[in-house]
Amino acid sequence: VSAPAAVYFIFGATGDLARRKLFPALYSLYREGKLGERFAVVGLARRPRTNEQFRDDVFSSIGEFCRYKPGENEVWSAFSDHFTYLSLDTGNVDAFKQLKEHTEQLEAAYGIPGNRLFYLALAPELFGSVSRNLRDGGMLESSGWHRLVIEKPFGYDYPSAEKLNEEIRHVFREDEVFRIDHYLGKEMVQNIEVIRFANAFFEPLWNKNHIANVQITLSETVGVEDRGAYYNKSGALRDMVQNHMLQMLTMIAMEPPGRLDPESIRDEKVKVLRSVRRYASEEEVRDHIVRGQYSSGSLKGKALKGYREEDNVDPESVTETFFAAKLFVENFRWAGVPFYVRTGKRLPVKSTEIVVEFKNVPGNVLFARKQDLQPNLLVIRVNPMEGIYFRINAKAPGNDMKIQPVAMEFCQSCQVGINTPEAYERLLFDAARGEGTYFTRWDELAAAWKIVDPIAAAWRDYAIAPDEYPAGSWGPEKAERILSDDGYHWWPVN
Ligand code: BG6
Repeated sequence: VSAPAAVYFIFGATGDLARRKLFPALYSLYREGKLGERFAVVGLARRPRTNEQFRDDVFSSIGEFCRYKPGENEVWSAFSDHFTYLSLDTGNVDAFKQLKEHTEQLEAAYGIPGNRLFYLALAPELFGSVSRNLRDGGMLESSGWHRLVIEKPFGYDYPSAEKLNEEIRHVFREDEVFRIDHYLGKEMVQNIEVIRFANAFFEPLWNKNHIANVQITLSETVGVEDRGAYYNKSGALRDMVQNHMLQMLTMIAMEPPGRLDPESIRDEKVKVLRSVRRYASEEEVRDHIVRGQYSSGSLKGKALKGYREEDNVDPESVTETFFAAKLFVENFRWAGVPFYVRTGKRLPVKSTEIVVEFKNVPGNVLFARKQDLQPNLLVIRVNPMEGIYFRINAKAPGNDMKIQPVAMEFCQSCQVGINTPEAYERLLFDAARGEGTYFTRWDELAAAWKIVDPIAAAWRDYAIAPDEYPAGSWGPEKAERILSDDGYHWWPVN
């Protein structure tokens, strides 16, 4: 199946996201026949550029970042013919009127029935005004569908997110708005649903009676790179927890939806977010949450700067670059089961893994008196390795009845290799088909902010500064303690 004929408007076409993710995604979709031939891409940014220059930019971005490499050949020339560029001042409604004329010509040339997808790879402050100008410039008057795709951050807290949402909603309906959380586009995150609901042996065990704890790690080796100015205002809580971490937790914890349509799935997800225990008092926040910031250190023999020495970071910054927490989903299924989450920059490996640790066999009477039984683990490897790993106990070969953990493993990245579609490829394709499952609905976003805001407020009000950890380590020591106090430990990630 290919996406319906449409015009794709890339606002911020000279920016990093367009270059690294969006153009490569469009090219992969094209190469796989998912775009068809009835489409047009309009690059929009303030900077003047000819169509030729723009196509050259797109060519080099695809050469660098796409799993399909472009060549100077017919495929490339057919693809790049669909690309045009218009210099546009997003604050000027007349420019949108020009854009309208340009669009109508393209639609006539390609036989596109007025379907328009607006991808705002722009600062969120501009979402409201661009939406208004799209409307006032007549861009929403065509007969097809109109969809708005936007990127985080969606606000800084609940009130600012609500304001941003209202501005957008003056122009677009909720079902026309596609809020990207690129973790929801990842193969193995999408696979969580299938693993849980298409296998007879997980769902009966998927609850407080059989699961001891869940661990979600999203670790990065990079520091803040050149994003100090953004990151210093945001920190790990807003940059990673409010969105990617809570989304993964939600997929693990949600109830089976009545049917697999976007609204039923998102209805279940939002219930999870509303059930997450909110920490607000100083004591709750100190007991359950770890806030860290990297100091100088080293990784693989390379000396690394501390966070406060990074470019565009206040030398006295109390922004966290590490976050760990013990969370609870307070419903019948999960009462009492800790969800340990951690994420941070400048950790030892780049890895995203979800570990479901099962309770030990009842009483352990048969074996445990003689030897330590290791719990069963289900590990979902999200990134960069993709796969599922299931750890069970088996007898070691030999006569002495020794038990050892063995792995049953499905390594998806080994089999499909580099051909796994990228998150942005899927998400762009979904948005073009109007498939909203893997986008964040407003009520999910609102519920996530309501978990995050009281934590941020407690840090501020009670002056809870981050604990230091050396770059290249697994975060402050306290991140171990929130598990060891419960008799658990972080399972090593790969
Ligand atoms: C982004 C964050 O949303 O996700 C970045 O803003 C982070 O700080 C990135 O580096 C991680 O994404 P991935 O796909 O590389 O794990």
